[in-house]
Formats: sequence, structure tokens, C-alpha cells
Amino acid sequence: MLVLFLTAAILRKMTNGKGYRRGTRYMFSRKFRQRGPIHLSTYLHVYKRGDIVDVKGTGTIQKGMPYKVYHGRTGRIFNVTNHAVGVIVNKRVGNHIKPKRINLRVEHVKHSRSREDFLKRVKKNDELKKQHKETGVYKILKREPTGPRPGHMVSSTNNVPQLVEPIPYEFIA
Ligand SMILES: *[C@@H]1O[C@H](CO)[C@@H](O)[C@H](O)[C@H]1NC(C)=O
Repeated sequence: MLVLFLTAAILRKMTNGKGYRRGTRYMFSRKFRQRGPIHLSTYLHVYKRGDIVDVKGTGTIQKGMPYKVYHGRTGRIFNVTNHAVGVIVNKRVGNHIKPKRINLRVEHVKHSRSREDFLKRVKKNDELKKQHKETGVYKILKREPTGPRPGHMVSSTNNVPQLVEPIPYEFIA
């Protein structure tokens, strides 16, 4: 019990409870083999209003960083300036979700791929609809979850069936 209290006391002393970036030691650090200078392509991206971006803080650039709660969020750009973009991200506050406007330098932002699949599907469905009109053959556009696998035969050669049953009960006095 005493040991427990002591450990707790030491831990409490060691943890720094204050600070804007506390608890972000690993969050904002560059990942293994991703360290070093920032690629030029980061700066050559063209951001436009309405673009969907992922927020990912990069520790090597301290200016225009996201606050830690926005790390990993996805938002929509509402403002573009020379080095930075304004992003609207949703933040849960209590029991409601607030659209927050944050300004981030481009090093902390990248285009999100979250809408790619949807746009691709829209394109594909339009194509299919056109086909329906031409051929009159209708195909359901709704997505269905992958169903169960079709039945098949299992060979029992070199694969002797085994009976699985519980171990008989043994009374231990
Ligand atoms: C965009 O950002 C600039 C620079 O911070 C600011 O002057 C301007 O008012 C912003 N525009 C919008 C629509 O928020």
C-alpha cells in the first residue's frame, strides 16, 4: 500500500499538468524515417476554398500549428492566404458539435482522401444510369454489404473429420 502511494506521489510530481502542448510529445513528433527537411511538394499544393483537408500537426514547424484537439481532424477550407489556410473543423463540446474556424500553416494540412470514394461512386453510378437508359437493363445502384460466402464442398481425403466435444467432468475432492 505504501509503495502504491509513493509511486503515485512520484508520478504526480513528474507529470506536468500545465502547458499548451502538454501530452503531445509523440503526437507532433515526426515519425520514424519521415524526419528531416519538409518536402517542397508540401508548399506546392494548391488549396482552394471548399477543399477537404486533414489536420496533422508537424512539430518541426512551430508557427501556425493546430491545437492538439484538432490533430487528426478533417475539415473544409474557408480561407486561403500566402502561407496558411483557414479550416472549419468540428469539435465536440459537451453534447453538441461546434464548427470551429482555425488557421493553420500549410505544413500542418494535407488534402484529405475521405471524399474520393464517394466521388468515384457518383461517377460510376452516373455511367451506369446512362447505360440503363440506353439498354433498358436495370441494375441496383445501392451498395450491399458483402454477404456470406457461397457454399462449397470440403474434401475429406487427407482431412479426417474430428469430433469436438467437451473434456469429461472430473470430480476433484
Ligand atoms: C482570411 O484571412 C485573412 C488573413 O488572416 C483575413 O484578413 C481575412 O479576413 C480572412 N477571410 C475570411 C473570409 O475569414
